[in-house]
Amino acid sequence: MPERYGNIVGWGKYVPEKIITNADLEKILDTTDEWIFSRTGIRQRHVISEGESNSGMAVAAAREALEMADVRARDLGLIIVATSSPDYLTPPISSQVQHALGAKDVGAFTLVAGCPGFVYGLATAHQFIAAGACDNVLVVGSEVVSRFINKQDRSTAILFGDGAGAVVLQVTSEPCGVLSFVLGSDGAGAQDLILPGGGSAAPASHEMVDEGLQYLRMNGRQVFRFASRVLGRALKQAIQKANLTTDDIDLFIPHQANARIIASAARYVKLPEDKVFVNIADYGNTSAASIPIALCEAFEQGRAKIGDTLAFVAFGAGLTWASAIVKLGEKTAPLPVEKSRISLFELLPFGGISSSIGSDLKRNLAQFFSPLSTFAQKLFSRSRG
Ligand code: ACO
Repeated sequence: MPERYGNIVGWGKYVPEKIITNADLEKILDTTDEWIFSRTGIRQRHVISEGESNSGMAVAAAREALEMADVRARDLGLIIVATSSPDYLTPPISSQVQHALGAKDVGAFTLVAGCPGFVYGLATAHQFIAAGACDNVLVVGSEVVSRFINKQDRSTAILFGDGAGAVVLQVTSEPCGVLSFVLGSDGAGAQDLILPGGGSAAPASHEMVDEGLQYLRMNGRQVFRFASRVLGRALKQAIQKANLTTDDIDLFIPHQANARIIASAARYVKLPEDKVFVNIADYGNTSAASIPIALCEAFEQGRAKIGDTLAFVAFGAGLTWASAIVKLGEKTAPLPVEKSRISLFELLPFGGISSSIGSDLKRNLAQFFSPLSTFAQKLFSRSRG
């Protein structure tokens, strides 16, 4: 067990004001509120308007999380933005978010793992903190799937919404934060959920647009089958890896893709309905943003609180899946550890094997190299200045 844990000490969300209800969709598509609600559990979804952007939503959610965590953006050790609908293919949205937050020089990367991207991000943040590389990590899930939907395609237009959610993980010695995680991928199902155009395989062209390759394509039945198969299993595996039982889970916060899929995963691990958080009716499927948005709402409604053990599970394009068990600990005074940015020590040959060596040995090595690292940093900054 690591001695350093990453506790969730701040959270925030942003959803656009504009709402599209099932009744609105009835007017433009061959569908009904009854069909959508009974098959998916969705009543409405939020979508961005002209002038709004994915990075703008991500920054708004992140600011809220940082404020609650009482962490300055420039004191972050790392920023992870999980999304499949960035503002641009390049530069990475994570750098836009880093800059807008004023997180000067902080490392940032974009994590593309479909809807489970946020859970992948949590697992990654946990590893950086446990390994001693960072003390504070921001994880954002933010999506504008609405920009990639063919509004005439009733199989996808009814499902997706836009939004963002963020958390700050902070180092603590109290056993909490991510207790276990399971990450999975099966690229054999790539064609079941794909945005074929706009990437390097089919760059933008008149032909590409004429064929409608810029829109998300989904084999709903296949994805449904896949999700029903992996979700319950991934949840069970994460519970077992944390050495817990279903009874130990206080609240299950699944990816909000389809209420029927959520119910079947809960049934698989025998979780009672009152321990399952579902807000899909109000937001639809917000992809990598759905779990952090749901987490914020669970806090707002008092359904998640300090001391609780939460279970997250998600599936999505790839195909991918991920689950995590997270304990919400008290916010403690930050550990007196080495500076949160990755130090020069991490760049030395030992850095590459640092996760496989004992933490005591690692700390001794860090202490040994620390003066050297400080000296080298001074030297670099002098030569730059
Ligand atoms: N309104 C009315 N009828 C519809 C609609 C609609 N919006 N969409 C499809 N239908 C029709 C179909 O044409 C079909 O008609 P037919 O029987 O005459 O051929 C009938 O309804 C049943 O269609 P199915 O596709 O079998 O419907 P199903 O019960 O499977 O529900 C749904 C479709 C809701 C898409 C379901 O398959 C699903 O939720 N799949 C998972 C999708 C998902 O979660 N995707 C995202 C995952 S990844 C991520 O989150 C980014």
